[in-house]
Amino acid sequence: MSLKEDFLPINGTDYVEFYVGNALQAAHYYINAFGFQPLAYAGLETGLKDRTSYVLKQGKIIFVLTSSLIEDSPIAKHQKLHGDGIKFVALWVDDARSSYKETMSRGAKSFSEPIVQKDEHGEVVTSGIFTYGETVHLFVERKNYKGIFLPGYRGWNPEYKKPDVGLLYVDHMVGNVGWNEMNVWAKFYENVMGFTQIVSFDDKDISTDYTALMSKVMSNSNGRIKFPINEPAEGRKKSQIEEFLDFYNGPGVQHVAMATDDIVKTVSELKSRGVEFLSIPSVYYDTVFERVGSIDEEILVLKKLGILVDRDDEGYLLQIFSKPVQDRPTLFYEIIQRKGAISFGKGNFKALFEAIEEEQARRGTL
Ligand code: FE2
Repeated sequence: MSLKEDFLPINGTDYVEFYVGNALQAAHYYINAFGFQPLAYAGLETGLKDRTSYVLKQGKIIFVLTSSLIEDSPIAKHQKLHGDGIKFVALWVDDARSSYKETMSRGAKSFSEPIVQKDEHGEVVTSGIFTYGETVHLFVERKNYKGIFLPGYRGWNPEYKKPDVGLLYVDHMVGNVGWNEMNVWAKFYENVMGFTQIVSFDDKDISTDYTALMSKVMSNSNGRIKFPINEPAEGRKKSQIEEFLDFYNGPGVQHVAMATDDIVKTVSELKSRGVEFLSIPSVYYDTVFERVGSIDEEILVLKKLGILVDRDDEGYLLQIFSKPVQDRPTLFYEIIQRKGAISFGKGNFKALFEAIEEEQARRGTL
């Protein structure tokens, strides 16, 4: 916490809402493949006419999957333009009115003025501002609410469930922005939301023979919200960031990193349920010991699963990246276990990007 008063105190990620083509089927994917638990529902049966939303939970992570029931709606337009993707990164605050006032007075673009929603469980205040592309940060104040999710939703408790896979909370969420826009959005998080930059990578850190990107990591004052911002950099071929921007038709959320305290168990379970991860060249593991020293996990087990390891001054981390989880090569997931390390796996970037380029080459988009 800096000496300056934090004008936007945030308790954590409240929820992540996706606009998708078929919320029912997407919900089943996250239940079956990722071990999310059904939590709440809103749709025709709850009085909505234009959309349906399924709410899922695992650990502290809440995903909302929303699709349009009508042809001409902001949801339908968003999904048509961007494909399935993240519309709302909702932040849990104690005061949604002041969050709105403070960010708007610093130059935010409004999505929604403070709105009060009520039901028999109390009231929730939400407000919202735009960030990069069409992505929105909602401020959610739920201190006077005891319901299951938000007013308007009813509990969803189907007979069919699958055990969770040990995902605990959102560690960080990464945005891809356009050429020369990284600094614009880093400044937005600094000036409008009071974040500070905690890390920066340039194209020398993150480049392969073919492609490059640059990244700055912005964090709020208590460190519960960390948003790396990527932009493409010149390379001999098309970078994964450009591929994302092409298929998403603009900036958007590239990946959500979800934490576990047993990555071997979590990833084994995800794989057995059909989640596909990037495969890392086995030579990566020939030098991993020299790079990170001794670790608690068996290298052979990590190698078999394709889990990456990196070390910083505070400790080490284990991480793995999924393939894109929808038709377009846009959003993917990271599974991360931190054993002291507070960084983002810089030592893995090269091996990782080479793996991504192999996938791009297969798609003909490198
Ligand atoms: Fe990440």
